[in-house]
Amino acid sequence: MDFKASTTGLLLLMVAFAGCGGSAEETAGQSTPASSESTTKLEPSPDENVAGLEQMCAEAQPAMEARQATATLFQRVGGRDGLQAVVADTVRRYVENEQIKHLMEGVDTEHLAAQVTDFLVVGTGGEGEYHGRDMTTAHANMNLTNADFLAAGSDLGAAMDSARWGEDEKQELLCAFVALREQVVTR
Ligand code: HEM
Repeated sequence: MDFKASTTGLLLLMVAFAGCGGSAEETAGQSTPASSESTTKLEPSPDENVAGLEQMCAEAQPAMEARQATATLFQRVGGRDGLQAVVADTVRRYVENEQIKHLMEGVDTEHLAAQVTDFLVVGTGGEGEYHGRDMTTAHANMNLTNADFLAAGSDLGAAMDSARWGEDEKQELLCAFVALREQVVTR
């Protein structure tokens, strides 16, 4: 796949994404003894979650590449229609997501979903063209954080679950998303 991505266990990925959004705030509210020896840290920070995801994706890369050499991700998720359904559901979830919904104000969600679908068709091995902006330019003014990124990734995971994608396919698209993080997260 063009995205240069990969992972380890999808379960771990989903656990990491599920822990996103507001975890730092929640932890900050707890009383923390000066010696944290006996303190159980319940939630990793967004930065820690991202680091874990990147490591898992790197470890899984060979297996993912082997699968993609046999059949493209595009083929395995039902082509453009399969991608389009998951993208549309993901964008719907963004609009409802407390962490990132402010970024969706005034956005033409149908146009956005169409652009993202074209982008993913090309990136997953399908026939097509992407005419939108590059990822750095498209997200440059959003001031996205790792917490925003994880919230968006969680929505993508939920949409793929809802569409009943296979574990391999969920892993591959999530890792494609992770591989693009540095282009969209600017603070
Ligand atoms: C690796 C992760 C991401 C990918 C692959 C991605 C993909 C895209 C693509 C293809 C576009 C269309 C660009 C264009 O129309 O020229 C776009 C725009 C947009 N993305 Fe992302 N995105 C990612 C992360 C995020 C995150 C975390 C958010 C947070 C909500 C976000 C929100 C938006 C919004 C609001 C737009 C519309 C910008 C505009 O039209 O002014 N994206 N994204």
